Amino acid sequence: MITLERTTTQASKRAPKCSYAGVRVYSAALLAFGAALIHLAVAPEHLREWAPFGVFFLTIGSIQIVLAVELLARPTRRLALSLILINVGLLALWYTSRTVGLPIGPTPGQPEAVGLTDIVCATMEVLGTVPLMALAIRPPRRRQRRIWLVGLGSAPTAIVSTAMTALAIAATLNGMPEAANAAPAIPGQPTTSITTLVEAPGNEPVKHFTLVAAPTDINGQQEWALNGSVPGPELRVNQGDRVQVTLVNHLPESTTLHWHGVVLPNAEDGVAGVTQDAVAPGAEYTYEFVAREAGTFWYHSHQQTEEQLPRGLFGALVVLPPTGQVAQQHDYTLLFHGSEGLVSVNGQFDNLHLDAQPGETVRLRLINTVAPGMDGGPETPELVGAPLQVASLDGRDINGPAELGPTRIPLGMGQRADLVFTMPQSGSVQLMDSEIIGEVSSVQKFFQNGTQPHYPTVTIGSGDLPATDNAASAPLFDALHYGVPTLDEVASATPDQTVPVVLGEHAGIRDGVPQLVHTINGAASPDIQPITVTEGQIVRMHIVNTTAEYHPMHMHGHVLSVIAIDGQPVEGSPIHLDSVLVAPHQTVDVAFAANNPGVWMFHCHVLLHAGMGMTTSINYVGYSTPFEMGTRSGNMPE
Ligand code: C2O
Ligand code: CU
Repeated sequence: MITLERTTTQASKRAPKCSYAGVRVYSAALLAFGAALIHLAVAPEHLREWAPFGVFFLTIGSIQIVLAVELLARPTRRLALSLILINVGLLALWYTSRTVGLPIGPTPGQPEAVGLTDIVCATMEVLGTVPLMALAIRPPRRRQRRIWLVGLGSAPTAIVSTAMTALAIAATLNGMPEAANAAPAIPGQPTTSITTLVEAPGNEPVKHFTLVAAPTDINGQQEWALNGSVPGPELRVNQGDRVQVTLVNHLPESTTLHWHGVVLPNAEDGVAGVTQDAVAPGAEYTYEFVAREAGTFWYHSHQQTEEQLPRGLFGALVVLPPTGQVAQQHDYTLLFHGSEGLVSVNGQFDNLHLDAQPGETVRLRLINTVAPGMDGGPETPELVGAPLQVASLDGRDINGPAELGPTRIPLGMGQRADLVFTMPQSGSVQLMDSEIIGEVSSVQKFFQNGTQPHYPTVTIGSGDLPATDNAASAPLFDALHYGVPTLDEVASATPDQTVPVVLGEHAGIRDGVPQLVHTINGAASPDIQPITVTEGQIVRMHIVNTTAEYHPMHMHGHVLSVIAIDGQPVEGSPIHLDSVLVAPHQTVDVAFAANNPGVWMFHCHVLLHAGMGMTTSINYVGYSTPFEMGTRSGNMPE
């Protein structure tokens, strides 16, 4: 009573202050109202997850609305205190759930992931508590005059509160899906589960490997290694071998292994949420396939690929000819990995040296697993010091490869190239980053480290280093006119269907995060309409890149025959790829034979782009998968 008296007197003595009190009332009410709307918006999701949580959010949201309206009508101390209490309670609950986890719910004791929606909501609660405290300390007594002043004073809060509410609600409505199935079984329609698509028994020679995935300290860095090394061990097998790989998961997260470029039965493809459930911590899983094509391949995790691959879960897979030997005297694998600016070769940041004597023949298997930045650009290694042949691309031989002088070879993320050459009679040969050879401009000289090569130089043989004077002006490898033409049955066949693949991007909110959404045919994963094919078809894809970025488009389980790039047909050897680099604003036509049933990923191999939605699948009619992606299963292939 006494307090109220005093407030009355003070308020009437300082009439102009009323509008400040009014601003406080409106600000507090607006922020409470916004938080209420967010709580109501997240309620349905929580109802599905665990009903009591859903009911809690519905109740809290409703109470906040009622109190916010009450506050506008009658801003009393008791109301302000109630709203403060709610905010403090909610903030404490939020903090607990994000740090140690709540003791109740579907996953008691497990911290939940922090998301945009809950950060915005918590911020609004903190912001709202400030004017509420002011009101609790000094509640306004009289009705407001000068409504326009109060309106003007509250405008910033109104704008901020509306924007935050809209952002939080958009984030939750566009949250990561709880469950998405790339090819669900449709009731009433006959379907074959892809789990039946395993390698049939046979009597091929068996090569068995065990790969243990575990956090490992490598040069003082915590990495996720396979058998203690990054990259993981190189698996060498012979064409025709039955390959068995047991993955043992000692990581704190679930994982998988995908056999990049290998044509194998669908159930062995290693894609979390599409061809299997991710292998849980402590569990193991065995992959089995017959290595039907000789060539240079690689393997990597296909669960949370964007994080797990760069952390170290990848390695080379080399399939030798049935004899177990290539025609060259030396057969070296050079695996480029890391991210832009910090690239290593075979796990080394120092320049590498490989042995070879004058006159000896050498095969270099280049594998680009470097995660590029947003531009998605390729690496462009260049061999100097000896004429070379590009013997194969993506593990598939070029027909009649001609000898080339210094050439810059663009390799998109995931792509491979085998270079073959003969050591000169004297001196060494070098494989260098041609970006640096080509662009030692005055600008780069100005910024000292502009002359730092992108990745270590590889020196083959010994003696004098090769001259690099002309290397700067070396042409880019022109695959369209390389090698000797021969019949490519898939490229030349009349297609049974031609599928448009339009690569695009726009700003938006996906998986609850504002991002540059990357689209295929106008939609982002998992909302992209899958490409449907029928077994036995020849399918053409007309890929149009509407963006200013590079997209190495990777197709699982199939070989893509290149038909044309920007309308220019292939005039040399057929080009057979599993990852086709589509340059900015380029158009690429490819074809494949639909002869390997199942549900196959088709995505950009720039991990950033795939993670922002540029991933879909090729679904065979009559096949379905029981596996699902999303927060419910924890399978997140990107
Ligand atoms: Cu190398 Cu779907 O990936
Ligand atoms: Cu891309």
